[in-house]
Amino acid sequence: MKILIVGGGGREHALCWKIVQDKRRPELYCAPGNAGTAELGVNLNIAAEDLDALAAWARREKPELTVIGPEAPLCAGLTDRLQTEGLRVFGPSRAAAQLEGSKVFAKSVLLAAGVPTAQAQTFTDAEQALAYVRAAASPLVIKADGLAAGKGVLICSTQREAEEAVREVMVRQAFGTAGRQILVEEFLEGEEVSMLAFVDGRRAVLLPSAQDHKRALDDDQGPNTGGMGAYSPAPMETGKFRQMILEKIFNPTLAELNRRGITYQGVLYAGLMVTASGPKVLEFNCRFGDPETQAVLPRLAGDLLPILEACINKNLLPEQVACRPAACVCVVMAAGGYPGQYRKGDVISGLKEATALDGTIVFQAGTKLDGERVVTSGGRVLGVTALGPTLAQSAEKAYRAVERIAFANAHFRRDIAAKGMKRKPQMKSAG
Ligand code: AMP
Ligand code: GLY
Repeated sequence: MKILIVGGGGREHALCWKIVQDKRRPELYCAPGNAGTAELGVNLNIAAEDLDALAAWARREKPELTVIGPEAPLCAGLTDRLQTEGLRVFGPSRAAAQLEGSKVFAKSVLLAAGVPTAQAQTFTDAEQALAYVRAAASPLVIKADGLAAGKGVLICSTQREAEEAVREVMVRQAFGTAGRQILVEEFLEGEEVSMLAFVDGRRAVLLPSAQDHKRALDDDQGPNTGGMGAYSPAPMETGKFRQMILEKIFNPTLAELNRRGITYQGVLYAGLMVTASGPKVLEFNCRFGDPETQAVLPRLAGDLLPILEACINKNLLPEQVACRPAACVCVVMAAGGYPGQYRKGDVISGLKEATALDGTIVFQAGTKLDGERVVTSGGRVLGVTALGPTLAQSAEKAYRAVERIAFANAHFRRDIAAKGMKRKPQMKSAG
């Protein structure tokens, strides 16, 4: 069975790692992949955003399944394009991917569906937005409507910062056309949690919860990043919590999409803030999270491939998403300087030694092969992941593996999963 995986980060290595374990012994192709995916399949020299080249390859090679990792090709309509060729694709259509591709669209769906979310106003005119933020109470959150590589959300603690953010996004167009429209949103306080669900067009089935660590430094200090680590389960996850999230967030959102003639098939990721008055949606992503996927997929008890196929065939069953009663912790090792300027091409040592440790998986992200050697080639380099009976034991294992790995100026947080351990020392949720 020939499978194309689009993307080249830690998420895609985790997807390949899980899929390759399927009894059908799939043959994997990854575009563009990294040094980790090269061990499990064939890397193609095609960028994830190059829709023409991806479509040409797929037309020629006819993969039985294509799994799309990142948001850019999903929002650009890669699923629709491959489906037109008669191919089977895991990932939402362009229309459904607007839930991530347009924050204004997502907000209108949330409001129409009655799903709890931050209050927000939409602006297409900078002067009107400026007048609004001058009259509004701080803090405020300014969000560019479109995709901005995770940088389009600006938290503003003062009115002056909010005005500056509006100018940056709408006048100076820091995120290009993504900032033609903005949302000015109420600031929510609480604990964040990522809830991902498989969706087959009719039904959503939740994956185990996860918590990301977005800031670069310990104790949630420093600049925002793509994610410095994740763990699963998150401390707020209980059976009741999961049921509430399905009933109050996923089901009404999918019903509202259906009402608009949009069928969602793929992974739907809800970024939630658990506030004093309950969970509220901060954002939707139309794909697996990175690094949440690295912390969640190892907990999946069965094969992934049948789930992906069931999402396409509209016959997903909750039993297919059964989880191991284990905890999982993923520590991201990044290049020094990330999320700012960083070096590439540094040799990574200790990968074999770390992987040999029991219950440990090293997911590669910004890596590539240089002859026989694995070298750094991106900001987030590795996702060092461990499974164990408790979060504390998993974290200890993951950090033991981190110690075996070295590359110049490697930098990582030392408190991944610490919040989860503080809240509940014995996490044994079955997910
Ligand atoms: P988003 O891309 O919408 O998830 O935003 C990125 C990050 O900004 C989120 O993970 C939150 O940490 C933060 N954020 C977004 N919206 C809000 C909000 N309304 N209140 C507080 N924090 C927010
Ligand atoms: N971990 C955040 C994201 O995947 O967008």
